[in-house]
Amino acid sequence: MKSYAIVGCGGRALGMFAIPIVKNFPHCARLVGLCDINQGRLDYFNRVLESKIPTFQDFDLMIRTTKPDIVIVTTKDALHHQFVLRAFELGCDVICEKPMAINDQQCREILAAEKKTGRKITVTFNYRFVPYVTRIRELLSQNAIGKILSLDFAYQLDRNHGADYFRRWHRRKENSGGLLVHKSTHHFDVINWLIGQDPQTVFAIGSRQFYGPTRKERGQRCLTCDHKKTCEFYFDINGPTTVGSVLDTSELYAKVEQFDGYIRDQCVFSDEIDIEDTMNLAIRYSGGTQMSYSLNAHCIYEGWRLAINGVDGRLEAQEWHSGPYVAKDNQEISLLRWQKPMETVTVKVDHGDHGGGDARLHKMLFEGPGADPLAHMASSRAGAMSILTGIAANHSIESKQPVEISNLLRG
Ligand SMILES: NC(=O)c1ccc[n+]([C@@H]2O[C@H](COP(=O)([O-])OP(=O)(O)OC[C@H]3O[C@@H](n4cnc5c(N)ncnc54)[C@H](O)[C@@H]3O)[C@@H](O)[C@H]2O)c1
Repeated sequence: MKSYAIVGCGGRALGMFAIPIVKNFPHCARLVGLCDINQGRLDYFNRVLESKIPTFQDFDLMIRTTKPDIVIVTTKDALHHQFVLRAFELGCDVICEKPMAINDQQCREILAAEKKTGRKITVTFNYRFVPYVTRIRELLSQNAIGKILSLDFAYQLDRNHGADYFRRWHRRKENSGGLLVHKSTHHFDVINWLIGQDPQTVFAIGSRQFYGPTRKERGQRCLTCDHKKTCEFYFDINGPTTVGSVLDTSELYAKVEQFDGYIRDQCVFSDEIDIEDTMNLAIRYSGGTQMSYSLNAHCIYEGWRLAINGVDGRLEAQEWHSGPYVAKDNQEISLLRWQKPMETVTVKVDHGDHGGGDARLHKMLFEGPGADPLAHMASSRAGAMSILTGIAANHSIESKQPVEISNLLRG
């Protein structure tokens, strides 16, 4: 039986960790403490969990009082590093939500602290656990297309999910590292994992073209906005939420605003937004593979398209989360070989959270990874490699030059 304490009790902590630990894994996991700066949200956790788990606003006090084996870090991204380092110092292992850190200095400090303290960090990359993605990994590990030469990966966020990153803390680079760190860490991790290589050189361009101060009809927040009847981005914080999760945004955010002033429904056309919404990267990997990657946060429908070119063939995959192409029952992976008929590999759609990835990740996290033949569980190294591509891209956007990942690791 392992004991867990959570720091950062927001939407992700509740849906991904607190509810599953208490409701689904009582045989192997115990939630002993909850820490957040917002007492209202902490109280809401205990109401939802029908529990009396001790709550704290002081992290050190929580650790000293509840002595957890493992700390789960689910604060906003910029603070992950601070709580990971402190948890190590206080003798705990860590499960950290992605991204492990938002800049190269934080990343180096976590790697060094892990070495120094002998503690362990696991980064929760749920995309690896999606059956469709796992099947691609199986095919590549069986050498389905031979040595991999190049990839084209286009990820598009729609105006529902994509816009949501522009409503709250994610919209400032100082909080999230921008979408190339906050969001793309999933994508870069999956690619590193699929091809078994590390990123080496990154060149990026990025701009904000759609959100931010691009229209006159805007306000401070949706709740009080004069344009709520006409704005297609109106988000009803007290209504049933469809953005990102099934959690109740009224209870979790609106009704507890007075404790910390966290406004969940800020205008997506605000002046203060400084993250990009349109990004293109060229990346070279350690084994010589090259990738062109794009992330657009303002698309009409959501999902991704991936093509992998190998010496012996080409693998094509795509997954759609909204819009006309969403798969109902089965998804397909195409394998194409020179002058041979196309082969189609079919994978059953999993309708669970994050394509069934969350539930599979829970099992490995809380019950133990077991054999893990495809290396699904991600260590600090994978956490670092996944964010360094986005961090390098941020440097490249600023400097207009290619950036070497090895320089970021050295500092
Ligand atoms: N893997 C995934 O698919 C996935 C999905 C969603 C979110 N996430 C990650 O989970 C994390 C949380 O995201 P969220 O959507 O739940 O955000 P959120 O804003 O709902 O929750 C963050 C919580 O951290 C708390 N917090 C802020 N400063 C704090 C401090 N100094 N001490 C203690 N608590 C503090 C806030 O009060 C809030 O309750 C982020 O890192 C995000 O990247 C991952």
